[in-house]
Amino acid sequence: MNLVLLGAPGAGKGTVAQELVAEFGVAHISTGDLLRAAVKGGTELGIQAKKYMDAGELVPDQLVIDLVKERLAADDAQQGFILDGFPRNTAQAVTLDSELSAMGREIDCALLVDVAPEVIIDRLSSRRTCRACGYTGTAADATCPKCGGEMYQRDDDKPETIKNRLDVYEKSTSPLVDYYRGQGLLKSVNGDQARETVYGDVKEALGL
Ligand code: AP5
Repeated sequence: MNLVLLGAPGAGKGTVAQELVAEFGVAHISTGDLLRAAVKGGTELGIQAKKYMDAGELVPDQLVIDLVKERLAADDAQQGFILDGFPRNTAQAVTLDSELSAMGREIDCALLVDVAPEVIIDRLSSRRTCRACGYTGTAADATCPKCGGEMYQRDDDKPETIKNRLDVYEKSTSPLVDYYRGQGLLKSVNGDQARETVYGDVKEALGL
């Protein structure tokens, strides 16, 4: 499974990826998680990335591409990977294709988790994330239902930033739907259903 997950902010890409990883054990490469870890760790990359993330803008391509190249070369990604949040524009997609080709590998499927913008605004406003295990739940979760950890609201899940993230998605990322359709790799699921139903549809779309 060499999978790209596509979808707007809050469509449920991370949720689907966590479920696939739990069941199939492939590597989950989330550029958002990698960047948030760099910010938390106070690294040079984190310092550079933070201002873009806080504004809901894309971090410069080269910073993100270097991160992804390193993760694709790691041992746990050799048997398959789920790319979540990357590529985010056509330049990143073209670079990914050429990096994978140089490694003798290729994307098997680009799966779009499709959700209407009005649903997304509600989801992101109420999203809470576990500091310990990364589980994503809602404001109703006082503590993490998986590990009991502290739940917090991401800085970019504030209303003013959500709007810009959706605008950036429409302008920069949504053209990737046609990019992967043109390669015959696009599949799509309706992400505006109960989590279990979405996950069932994902497995069916992937033939799992
Ligand atoms: P990133 O972390 O990638 O954020 P995103 O794409 O905006 O996606 P999210 O993590 O917000 O949403 P998701 O689709 O994973 O939804 P989730 O499963 O959590 O990126 C953050 C920032 O980093 C970017 O803005 C940018 O600055 C930078 N960045 C990252 N990658 C980059 C790149 N390649 N290039 C440049 N910059 C980059 O679900 C959302 C909520 O809905 C949760 O509360 C969840 O519990 C709930 N939910 C999920 N499924 C369902 C369901 N079926 N029904 C009801 N609720 C549901």
